[in-house]
Amino acid sequence: MPEDANTQDTLAAQAASAAPQVPAQTELAAPQVPAQTASAAPQVPAQTASAAPQAPPVATIATLGQHEGQAVTLRGWLYNLRESGKLLFPIFRDGTGTIQGVAHVKSVPAEVFDALKGLTQESSVVVTGKVRADKRAPGGYELDVLDLKVVQRVPETDPYPITLKEHGVDFLMEHRHLWVRSPRQSAILRIRAEIMRAAAEYFDSNGFIRTDPPILTPAACEGTSTLFPVDYFGDPAYLTQSGQLYIEATALALGKVYSFGPTFRAEKSKTRRHLTEFWMIEPEVAFCDLDGLLELSENFLSHIVQSVLKNRATELQVIGRDTAKLEAITPPFPRITYDDAVSLLNAAHKTGQLEQPFEYGNDFGSPDETWLSSQFDRPVMVHRYPANVKAFYMEPDPLNANLALCVDVLAPEGYGEIIGGSQRVSSYELLLSRIEQHQLPKEAFGWYLDLRRYGSVPHSGFGMGIERAVAWICGLDHVRETIPFARTLHRIYP
Ligand code: 4AD
Ligand code: MG
Repeated sequence: MPEDANTQDTLAAQAASAAPQVPAQTELAAPQVPAQTASAAPQVPAQTASAAPQAPPVATIATLGQHEGQAVTLRGWLYNLRESGKLLFPIFRDGTGTIQGVAHVKSVPAEVFDALKGLTQESSVVVTGKVRADKRAPGGYELDVLDLKVVQRVPETDPYPITLKEHGVDFLMEHRHLWVRSPRQSAILRIRAEIMRAAAEYFDSNGFIRTDPPILTPAACEGTSTLFPVDYFGDPAYLTQSGQLYIEATALALGKVYSFGPTFRAEKSKTRRHLTEFWMIEPEVAFCDLDGLLELSENFLSHIVQSVLKNRATELQVIGRDTAKLEAITPPFPRITYDDAVSLLNAAHKTGQLEQPFEYGNDFGSPDETWLSSQFDRPVMVHRYPANVKAFYMEPDPLNANLALCVDVLAPEGYGEIIGGSQRVSSYELLLSRIEQHQLPKEAFGWYLDLRRYGSVPHSGFGMGIERAVAWICGLDHVRETIPFARTLHRIYP
């Protein structure tokens, strides 16, 4: 596990200081048309007769490879500027990547040179330039600037607050609305989007139907201590902790279903793994037992990791992720019982690898999970925990009623739990007694009990927290960087 948040962007180091200088306020000419396109308009149909000279195509930095040797127009922001006498080296970003431009005083119109010289960080620009392949450039290309139009110039008197030097995490979180622009943070958000896409894709292409559970709920799913209450027209209600109970109903209607949405936990602890608002994807399958669930988990996770490797290679490189570790993520995953895990923990304590001895019957603490998940090069599936440390809805193991037919999937490299799931209690009587035991409000669970009265079947499901998956796949030390705007115990701004 990395030690501290790497708050510096990879490009920051290379894109050295260059304090913006005060330039003359510049009015810009309309983008100039590169020479080769100015010539004779094709002589074809009548309606094109008036053909104005063609403007260079608007392109994005990620697709510049398709335009080598051509002039293109990019729309974006000035990420950094290095000045060296008659030469300017701006770095532009457009949301798809960054590219270094080159402008020589003699190669661009004077007003363009003047506009670029001293241009301030994060000023928005429309820039036209010729794409030139350069093996040394991070993305493989550089841009010979031909023209530049400043859309909004950030004033020197009120400069962009996040400079390229290192800032503390609190400062960056306070400016999260701007911090997301940095190459590293936007790469993480692109990977997050790919994880979400691939996760949904896995279920969509394997016969699952997405069914959306409610966000406003009358009762707890995952324990009453982390509920967020809302006033529902004078009645108490809560933000959902998990869609599970509701998708058990839709699974019995449709067979294989999943839900994907925000979930809420009033977590009072301040850890690098806990948010109060996070996104969970949850499959639920009728006629599926714990073994079926383990198989689903390993195939699902492998699909996500392999998709990220395939579709987000550039971003993984920007954030400096060791991809060899991700390439190893293929089925089958190791499976160990809770009892096996306890033996491993005790042995680790004896040899001084763990400070605290582990007491059989407890749930694993953070250091236990971290240690366990560092022992494997793939996610490890720990199954059959003691029933009394787990949720009320878990089916007991028929071979030992003290154990639950459940699984926690612990990501490697010390990332700990990313998936929690189980087979569900299918007996009406047992479920009723569990609801009473856990002192849950019976009235609110009438409909949930009905699922065991009318055609009950063995069924199973799990939930994966997107942010935990992003932290692991990106190799981040804290979930706060895995979501555009993290909600934690002490933060609800911006
Ligand atoms: O293990 P959990 O609590 O399981 C459930 O909610 C089940 N109802 C899911 C199911 O069986 N359908 O949460 C599932 C996952 C965890 O493994 C973790 O990845 C994530 O949700 N998670 C959190 N992520 C960020 N912040 C928190 N406070 C989280 N709590 C759970
Ligand atoms: Mg859990």
